[in-house]
This record gives sequence, C-alpha cells and structure tokens, in this order.
Amino acid sequence: MSSKSMPSPSHACDFSALAQRYTRTRQQTVDLTRPLSPEDCQLQSMPDASPAKWHLAHVTWFFETFLLERFESNFAPYDASFRALFSSYYNAVGRKHPRHQRMQALIRSASNLGASDRQSLKDLLGLGLHHEQQHQELLITDIKHALSQNPARPAYAQRWPLAGTHPQPLGWVSLAGGLGLHGHAPALDGSFAFDNETLRHQVFVAPFEIGGRSCGCPCRNGTKAA
Ligand SMILES: [Fe+2]
Repeated sequence: MSSKSMPSPSHACDFSALAQRYTRTRQQTVDLTRPLSPEDCQLQSMPDASPAKWHLAHVTWFFETFLLERFESNFAPYDASFRALFSSYYNAVGRKHPRHQRMQALIRSASNLGASDRQSLKDLLGLGLHHEQQHQELLITDIKHALSQNPARPAYAQRWPLAGTHPQPLGWVSLAGGLGLHGHAPALDGSFAFDNETLRHQVFVAPFEIGGRSCGCPCRNGTKAA
C-alpha cells in the first residue's frame, strides 16, 4: 500500500466503531424476533404490513446490494433468486467469503480503499444501520398489529427481548415556531436524501411543545420537566 492511500489512525478508529455498531444493530434485529415462532414470522395482517421474515431478509439485502456488491472483490450474491424477492442481483463468479462474515470482512478491509470509496463505505454503512433500525420499529409495529388480529390477543413477548436501556428523563421541549425550511439541503445534509425529504420548501409552524428526552447537551435550553 502506498503512503498516499494509508488511512490515518482516526479512519481505523472510525471503522472499528462502525464495525461494533454493525454487530450490535444486526444482533438487535435478531433478538427482536426471538419471541416469535416460525409461524409468527410469516404473518402479514394487511397489505401495508410485512412479515417479520421479510424485514429480516430486506435489511440483509440492503447491505449485500449497496455495500458488498459495490465494494467486495469477487462479489457473488448469497442467492441470485433473492433479487426478485428483495430487489435485484446479478450473477458474478469468484470465491465467496464465509457468508456470515462478509460485511465484517469488508469493514476490516476498508483501509485498502481510496479516500473517496472509504467515505462512501462509511456513509452507506451508517445509512444501512439507520435503515435497519427503522425496520426494527416496523417489525415490532407489524407483528403487534398481526397479533392484535388474533382473538386470543397473544402477547408479543413476556419480557422485552433487548438488553435494558437507560432512557433520559422525559421532558417538554418548547419550540418558538415561525417560518422555516423543511426538506433536504445538500449543503447542510450531504448529497443523499430519501425521496420523501425533497423538495425543500418553506413552511409556517405555530409555536408548540413536544415531548423529548434530553441528551444533556446545551440544546437542553428550553426544556422543562414533565
Ligand atoms: Fe427498507
């Protein structure tokens, strides 16, 4: 490796933290399905909901399609037929990494990428983790709706399956309202946006309060105890 492409220690540190976040987030998704039987995982209670097994496959599809396919040398899809189910794949040839280790192997090899690709990998990995957390919420919402359709009203779980969380105290955040801008601004937010975040437009919002859990930073000004 040339000194030009040698990552700084902070890059290695960034990717080490991302690798931990990746492992933690993916494990949380699996843990959320632990209270469910295989039959529960197939339930779809309405057209707008998805079975738990689809959420599991879809969040995995994201990493394979948008990260492994782009950055992994000798990429080959886990199963080419999944493209029809979760998006699309192409057939490639080459040696496969052990399947469950492919993303961790890619993160470990980030130092071999150029600066631009390293940044893209970091951005896409962060996006993929946020996408997976979004689907964790959807998974719970969908399965609780499905179980609510059952006359016996079975509980999703007797105990919350994830490790204990320690939320900050709930409080009220006052916002002054007024004219503001909503929507994605590339100069502020970077180039990526979801389609429902455009077009940027001006809105008037009346003064309001919203419940929130303060992070303890200076933005806490304006918070009052619930
Ligand atoms: Fe999605």
